[in-house]
Amino acid sequence: MSKRVRTAVFPAGGLGTRFLPATKVIPKEMLALVDKPIIQYGVEEAVASGIEHIIFITGRGKSAMEDHFDVSYELDATLEKKGKKELLELSRKISSLARVSYVRQKAPLGLGHAVLCAKELVGDEPFAVLLPDDVIDAEPPCIKQMIDVYEEREGSVLATMTIDGPDISAYGVLAGAPDAANPRIYNCTGMVEKPKFENAPSKQAIVGRYVLTPRVFEMLEKTTPGAGGEIQLTDGILALLQHEKVFGYTFEGKRFDAGDKFGMLQATVEFALKRPEFGEKFREYLKGLPL
Ligand code: UTP
Repeated sequence: MSKRVRTAVFPAGGLGTRFLPATKVIPKEMLALVDKPIIQYGVEEAVASGIEHIIFITGRGKSAMEDHFDVSYELDATLEKKGKKELLELSRKISSLARVSYVRQKAPLGLGHAVLCAKELVGDEPFAVLLPDDVIDAEPPCIKQMIDVYEEREGSVLATMTIDGPDISAYGVLAGAPDAANPRIYNCTGMVEKPKFENAPSKQAIVGRYVLTPRVFEMLEKTTPGAGGEIQLTDGILALLQHEKVFGYTFEGKRFDAGDKFGMLQATVEFALKRPEFGEKFREYLKGLPL
């Protein structure tokens, strides 16, 4: 149980229908937030948190992602020939971020099914799951904060946000009670997927970062399709709760749903404003708009 978290799983087998038509051909994980595909933010977060092995769960039409994290000989040779050192470094850095593996999810049968596809590669170790749509701006990185909680409490950890109002119906919601020693930790006793506002058991909404013990695979193998005919990760974690402790953790930082058009716009504005090369220019531009 006290093994180190070395592997991160990135489920990227979904269809990305919320971002059509952009995602008809381009995987949503490859949509650019300012100048980087959204999945690269997650990979950099994992690497900065000590993760050594990245497993992408992919599906049909996702080969651009594999190419992105591979060496691009033609591009690198051209940049080298033209003496564009900084761009060459940028391109090379992407392919040397971490050890990367790919597992193909043959059909998008749900997030729980996508995670289960990583079982053989993860083995008998705790592991992280990062949903690439959720771009989280945090220092220390969100998944690092959660790995720290896992190591201290020795139980699975789910990232949560406090949502006060009807928007909570879009999330999985925890039942349980805040921890007496650490108000960011929530001692979980149950969870409900997308409840009606009036039925939500708490204000703790689950977002796309998890640290899970390998026993969850056993649970997912027994999980039957739930809401929407999909194998839900929350159902697997609910089953895990019968055997082990599960914690919610209100991370320090800000999460953007970049798989949603409005969320992507918010992330674009906030990330662009932070960029030293053009943040100030962008701020002036925004100020000049007739809003
Ligand atoms: P979402 O429901 O947000 O992704 O799943 P989606 O289905 O791609 O997007 P929309 O709702 O149609 O726009 C959350 C995460 O789980 C992955 C998705 O790729 C996304 O990262 N996922 C979902 C899988 O890997 N496999 C699945 O079968 C379902």
